[in-house]
Amino acid sequence: MMLHHSEIKIQLLKLYLERYLNVLSVSKFFGNIHLYDLFCGEGIYENNGKGSPIVILETIKNTYFANKAKGIRTDKFNCRFNDIERWKIEKLKTEITKRKLHYSDIGELEYSVTDYKVLLPGIVNEIDSFKKEKAFVFIDPYGYKDIKVANIKSLLRSNRSEVLLFLPTQFMFRFEKHGTPECLIDFIGELMPIEQWPESETGVGFIESLTEAFRNSLGNEYYVDSFIITREKNQFFCLFFFTSHIYGFDRMLDAKWKIDEEEGRGWQHVIENTLFDQVEKKANTFKFERKLIAFLRTDRTNGQIYQFTLHNGHLPNHANEILMKLQTNGQLKALKPDGTKARKSSFYINYQDYKNEPNKIRLKIN
Ligand SMILES: C[S@@+](CC[C@H](N)C(=O)[O-])C[C@H]1O[C@@H](n2cnc3c(N)ncnc32)[C@H](O)[C@@H]1O
Repeated sequence: MMLHHSEIKIQLLKLYLERYLNVLSVSKFFGNIHLYDLFCGEGIYENNGKGSPIVILETIKNTYFANKAKGIRTDKFNCRFNDIERWKIEKLKTEITKRKLHYSDIGELEYSVTDYKVLLPGIVNEIDSFKKEKAFVFIDPYGYKDIKVANIKSLLRSNRSEVLLFLPTQFMFRFEKHGTPECLIDFIGELMPIEQWPESETGVGFIESLTEAFRNSLGNEYYVDSFIITREKNQFFCLFFFTSHIYGFDRMLDAKWKIDEEEGRGWQHVIENTLFDQVEKKANTFKFERKLIAFLRTDRTNGQIYQFTLHNGHLPNHANEILMKLQTNGQLKALKPDGTKARKSSFYINYQDYKNEPNKIRLKIN
């Protein structure tokens, strides 16, 4: 079945939220969670398709009752739905009541009809004041002209939030090929000097450059990756996720790689030239290998390699495979802190070791 891009977007939102809420639910520090959908839309579409606020409410309702059944302490899930169009918010309210999607036990529910730009400073202040609480922000505009990188940075700066940004990047790519419009220059210019922006051969390449630029611009404290949704040949939509929460990011990357592998094929048939997609995928792993080798020219601990792997959107098992190959070829030196040789084929690249024994071994290319 061919899915419309907005349905795939909603599936990804649901998946992200489920994973995020699951990771938080098992944490001792679980506090109230505030979910902001800043461009929420009308909730239910003419074809009965569900929009983001409905999916958010369904997901928190399921999590709330599942946690309650398991005896996990349940803090509140507070939602804020905003859209600039009043009729959409009114329709959304009616749908939520009709479908009984919300109970006051779950948390508070707030609506607003405000321009995103006006609303944002207040939300940033609210998130900055959080102590135990956490924020999840979904940004789903029609285009990118109102979205500033600085907005995303300010939403992230408290280290208590996750941001999910959906961008219809096919427009960016098209514009980029035929001369860059002012608003795109501004957008990229916030990330890097525009004259250093690499020329992209394909839409996927363009999104990779954008992800890389976000990573460089946000620095080591934040993790960034993107899901690519393809609709037609050379039409790309992209969901970026940003967080400072390394374990949450690890789980999300895991889900992303699974989707690419399993359902990924389900989406690929919308690209006429499947070979194109395969070539892109191979290149991704290849690029990471080159980066990892360059990174290992300097002595690195297992903890540092774990972080590096995630920063580059890859999984510990990708790093392990590459390290194994290097070791087999005699190119890798692996030492314990006391300087003796480490056990062969064990690299300790995972979250548990990162947390408990980040200096268990040191690796370097010979
Ligand atoms: C892509 S749609 C959102 C779809 C929604 N997230 C969903 O999943 O159903 C973008 C929405 O942003 C709203 N909008 C446009 N400009 C806005 C602004 N400056 N501030 C807030 N909302 C805006 C539009 O009314 C529209 O409903």
